Amino acid sequence: TELIIVDHEAKAGELYARCVADLIKGKPDTVLGLATGSSPLAAYAALASTVKAEHIDMSRVRGFALDEYAGLDPSHPQSYRSTITRTVVEPLGLDPALVHVPNGDPATIMDAGRAYDAAIEAAGGVDVQILGIGTDGHIGFNEPGSSLASGTRIKTLTQQTRRDNARFFNDDIDQVPTHCITQGIGTILKARHLILLAFGEQKAEAIAQTVEGGICSLWPASALQLHPHATVIVDDAAASKLH
Ligand code: F6R
Repeated sequence: TELIIVDHEAKAGELYARCVADLIKGKPDTVLGLATGSSPLAAYAALASTVKAEHIDMSRVRGFALDEYAGLDPSHPQSYRSTITRTVVEPLGLDPALVHVPNGDPATIMDAGRAYDAAIEAAGGVDVQILGIGTDGHIGFNEPGSSLASGTRIKTLTQQTRRDNARFFNDDIDQVPTHCITQGIGTILKARHLILLAFGEQKAEAIAQTVEGGICSLWPASALQLHPHATVIVDDAAASKLH
C-alpha cells in the first residue's frame, strides 16, 4: 500500500484529480468507481476544475457507485443516487445514463447485487475506485466482520455507522435506514487502482489498522493490503496513530 500524507484535504483532491484526468485523456470511456460521504468531495471538486481548465471530454466516462441505502426512494435527497447526481454527475458533466448506483429497492434487493457485479464486469471493470473509510474501518458499507471475498449484496448498517450518518438525516438516527446494498470487498478489490482518502483524527485508528494492522475482516479496509495498486491519502490527523 502506497501511503501519502498531505497537509490539507485540498492537496489530496488535487492528487486524485491529476491521476483521473490523465487516465481519461488516454481512455475516454474510463470507468470510475464512486463513493459518497464527505471524504471524496474535495477530490470531485478538484477533478471538476481540472476537467474545465483542460477541456477534457467527459461524455463517455462511466461510473459505478459503491453503495445505496435500502428502502430509500432514489429521489430522496439523501439517497446515494441523489448524492452521486449532485456531487459527481452534475459537476463533472457526466452522462447520467452511464453512471450506475446499486438498486436499494427492497423488492429486488436480493438479486440486485449479482446483477450489479455483472454490470461492472461487462463494463470491463473499474479503472480507479475512490474510497472513504468508516471510523470502524468499513469500506463501502462492508462493516467489521464482512467477508474479504464478498460480492455486492445487502448488509445491515451498524449502530456506529447509523450514528455517524445521522448528520444527513436531521441528526435523527431513527431516520437513517437500517440496511444497504454495497459492493463487496471482493468487488472493490477487482478495481485496477484503489485510492482511499481519510481526513481527521476520528479516522486515525482505522487508518493505523488499515495500513499497519494484520489483514482481518474486523478492519475491512485492511483488505487493501491484498491489492497490488492501492494508494492511501491522509492528512496529519488521520495519520496520527501510524508508527
Ligand atoms: C460511501 C461509503 C462509505 C464512506 C465512509 C466514510 O459511499 O461507502 O464507506 O466512504 O462511511 O464517510 P465520510 O467520508 O463521510 O467520512
